[in-house]
Amino acid sequence: MRLWVLSDLHTAPDAPWFPSVRPEFDALVIAGDVYDSDIERSILWTAQVADGRPAVFVPGNHEFWGRTIEDELERAERRAQKEGVTLLNGQGWMAVAGGHFAGGTLWTDLELNQPAGHILYPREFGDPIDVRGPGIDRRAKGRDIARRHRAEVDVLEAILDPDVAPEGPRIVVTHYAPHIEVLPRHLWDQPSAAASASDLGHLTDVGAVHLWICGHIPRSVDFVPGYGTRILSNPRGENDSNPAFAESLIVEVDEPIPTPSFGPNAGR
Ligand SMILES: [Fe+2]
Repeated sequence: MRLWVLSDLHTAPDAPWFPSVRPEFDALVIAGDVYDSDIERSILWTAQVADGRPAVFVPGNHEFWGRTIEDELERAERRAQKEGVTLLNGQGWMAVAGGHFAGGTLWTDLELNQPAGHILYPREFGDPIDVRGPGIDRRAKGRDIARRHRAEVDVLEAILDPDVAPEGPRIVVTHYAPHIEVLPRHLWDQPSAAASASDLGHLTDVGAVHLWICGHIPRSVDFVPGYGTRILSNPRGENDSNPAFAESLIVEVDEPIPTPSFGPNAGR
């Protein structure tokens, strides 16, 4: 299966960016951060780029800027259904183009490199993001973000159980990173790492997922931690800041788990 993988396009509303070429692919995978504060336009963009072929979209934090998460996800579900795009939002396995996809924004547990019992205050999330639910309608706090992360991880833990996981390629797509080594090395021991990544080694290092695609980071990675899952990102970056970004990157997913082609520091 050939996946066309892109993320963090950060395209401008008044001068949208589109790939200059459309490679041969079986499914387009967009790992978030296409437009700021406009999740429906991000999904429409995904459909336009896919041009009638299967497409998978995961919202990034930028899609939620200045918005309420729950409201945007309702809009996203309607728009994705209309455009024929598969929206991943922590709902479990979705069959697309012969593969099985799961994931969502993922957010973060805000715990990496924090003192015991503390979580990072989420000022690194950029513009304010709101949440609502029974009895609440307010600015998101760290515990709201961590709670959303926990809920998504609970689903992944359940559906990756060998007794229920489907046969065939299992691909997880998240906006936030599942592993510290996705980040540039100088951040591995820094408190700010918690704004971008969580330690999900119990999911990535056991081989239950063939490929884990993520975004939200400033560089391209393609590596396999331990004996586990291939972790890959292909972010364009704000202001086209990632020189290793490949606008027509095709990732072949086959069984068994493919061997890595280069290490976690590739592109830097
Ligand atoms: Fe992001």
